[in-house]
Amino acid sequence: MTSHGDAAHRVRTLRDQINQHNYLYYVLDAPEIPDSDYDRLLRELQTLERQFPELVTRDSPTQRVGATPLAEFGQVRHEVPMLSLDNAFDEQEVRDFERRAHERLGTPAQLEYAAEPKLDGLAISLVYEHGMLARGATRGDGTVGEDVTQNIRTIPSVPLRLIGKGFPALLEARGEIFMSRKSFEKLNARAARKNEKIFANPRNAAAGSLRQLDARITASRSLEFFAYAWGQVRGGKLPGRHSEVLARFRDWGLRTNPENRVVHGVDGCLQFYRQMAAKRERLPYQIDGVVYKVDRLDLQQQLGFVARAPRWAIAHKFPAEEAMTVLRAVEFQVGRTGALTPVARLEPVFVGGATVSNATLHNMDEVERKDVRMGDTVIVRRAGDVIPEVVSVVLTRRPKSTRRVRLPRICPVCGSQVLRLEGEAVARCSGGLYCAAQRKELIRHFASRRALNIEGLGEKLVEQLVDAGLVHTPADIFRLTVPQLADLERMGEKSAKNLVQTIEHARHTTLARFLYALGIREVGETTAQVLARHFGTLEALMKADATALVQVPDVGPVVAAAVAAYFHEPHNHQVIDALRKAGVQWPEHVSAPLTGSPPLSGKIFVLTGTLASMTRDDAKAGIQALGGKVSGSVSKKTDYLVVGAEPGSKLAEARKLGIGLMDEVAFKRLLKL
Ligand code: IVH
Repeated sequence: MTSHGDAAHRVRTLRDQINQHNYLYYVLDAPEIPDSDYDRLLRELQTLERQFPELVTRDSPTQRVGATPLAEFGQVRHEVPMLSLDNAFDEQEVRDFERRAHERLGTPAQLEYAAEPKLDGLAISLVYEHGMLARGATRGDGTVGEDVTQNIRTIPSVPLRLIGKGFPALLEARGEIFMSRKSFEKLNARAARKNEKIFANPRNAAAGSLRQLDARITASRSLEFFAYAWGQVRGGKLPGRHSEVLARFRDWGLRTNPENRVVHGVDGCLQFYRQMAAKRERLPYQIDGVVYKVDRLDLQQQLGFVARAPRWAIAHKFPAEEAMTVLRAVEFQVGRTGALTPVARLEPVFVGGATVSNATLHNMDEVERKDVRMGDTVIVRRAGDVIPEVVSVVLTRRPKSTRRVRLPRICPVCGSQVLRLEGEAVARCSGGLYCAAQRKELIRHFASRRALNIEGLGEKLVEQLVDAGLVHTPADIFRLTVPQLADLERMGEKSAKNLVQTIEHARHTTLARFLYALGIREVGETTAQVLARHFGTLEALMKADATALVQVPDVGPVVAAAVAAYFHEPHNHQVIDALRKAGVQWPEHVSAPLTGSPPLSGKIFVLTGTLASMTRDDAKAGIQALGGKVSGSVSKKTDYLVVGAEPGSKLAEARKLGIGLMDEVAFKRLLKL
């Protein structure tokens, strides 16, 4: 049995250890023990306190959550008023702020600023008496706030007791209570499951969670705290700079924002602003701007206050990311892949730093989920470089007559049928190359490296060729002439000649590459290889219906349907005929037997050095088309090493392991090229 004396000693040791680990975890963000060890310490303390209730103190780490809910919050008077900040919305307003500060101080010397992210939560005051958390209060109107001590005590990053030495006998630390994006999303997901209230943003969630009469609810909400200011200070002195005070806060166990910096002059401020704007989306919590504070406290004192804000600090706000406007109409845009995207035409509105008159509605599922109708008032969001989107409808403003959004049956660009597959959110135009919206993308894909590999025929050039009316279908590529190409922007005689030559070579391809190049929906490189190997000839494949296609190993019903649908379209036959007429050809040899295993089945190949007559990708495709596998490195499992010019270390490795070597001639014979 533990004696009272031993227990008292152990309890003190445990509390010190737990407080130290809290500090390492929350303030320094550098935990030294795993969570399980921490939990063990806490449980031991709980057990001892249950055994010896007289040892329980208010500041024990076990005493964060009190048991009795309050009837109401008490009121608290802030001895030092809790001020707010003036805002600057652009660079000029920040420069004006600095100019005014210089004028008042009469010093032309560059000022130093403490620059901090502006957290989007709620301001809080924490009074520590002799290092013990005595009171937590909301800002309220700045003079009178609410006593939320019970709730504040449940926030793990708020120390119940300060650590270290030299803190004033009375210290009122101030800062922000906030909720991380992750916790916010979790909370809302949980609320949605239980059909409870969904919070509009992390700020509201933090405020709603803190203002709970039952602290157990607050305890379940994952709130966090950063200190950035102070109020009353008695029985001790703070250092002479804001940044130094925050450093002391940290030593005493008060969490401060690791993004805080000291910067020089207005240019330093603006640089900080840009850095934080760029980093904003990656921060785990929401910020709505940055704050600049004159770092020297003596200068702060000289500058003083106006009304409810200090003259020594300013909030430089990011442009608001959300705004309200009216949705006039919904139109459908056909993307490069044929996907139909509903686009909201809006009453122009200034949001996220730009005027927005179009916003995406993503797809019909989203339109239905959000119940967006033409004539509605909507919330539009534009964050960073992200495409503006319609976030939600303001139902309270819905007029009597709104029109529902309907998916068009035919493509607005080419008039082909629009298909929306069962269970898919995206609707697509079935026009393929026939649809001008998809033409560029399909031609670009046709020429891409793993398709017909026409080097030099990239996105920009395809764009030019299609716009100039020189290319409508892939077959047109093979009719391009040097003078035609040389006439184009950024194209000289020489590159035109090179391109025509590359195109010439590209005529000779493989069936797998050709199938992949056609851009059949659901047919990627591997599927193209599987199909080529299985059917051997294009004619055989074209004759196969969906039932025959699903018989092919690795081909499921979705792929089978897409392939069958493609070859069902007469205009796709025209595309293929035109390509063959233009001279596109492939060896019709790979007709592996429809039954039994392909010739290289189970064989593992490794390639080294450069092959003179084909690219690495071609060599790989050739091996795969015959059922072989290609590996990146030589091992005991390797069957053959294909050796090209200037082979690498793989050759020595293969020799060591006694693996079969094959030169290019032998390799081509194997592939029957
Ligand atoms: S300093 C006298 N620093 O912004 C200066 N405030 O608009 C008092 N806020 O009520 C505030 N991050 O809730 C300061 N790093 C920061 C801040 C910050 C967020 C909030 C705070 C304040 C409001 C003023």
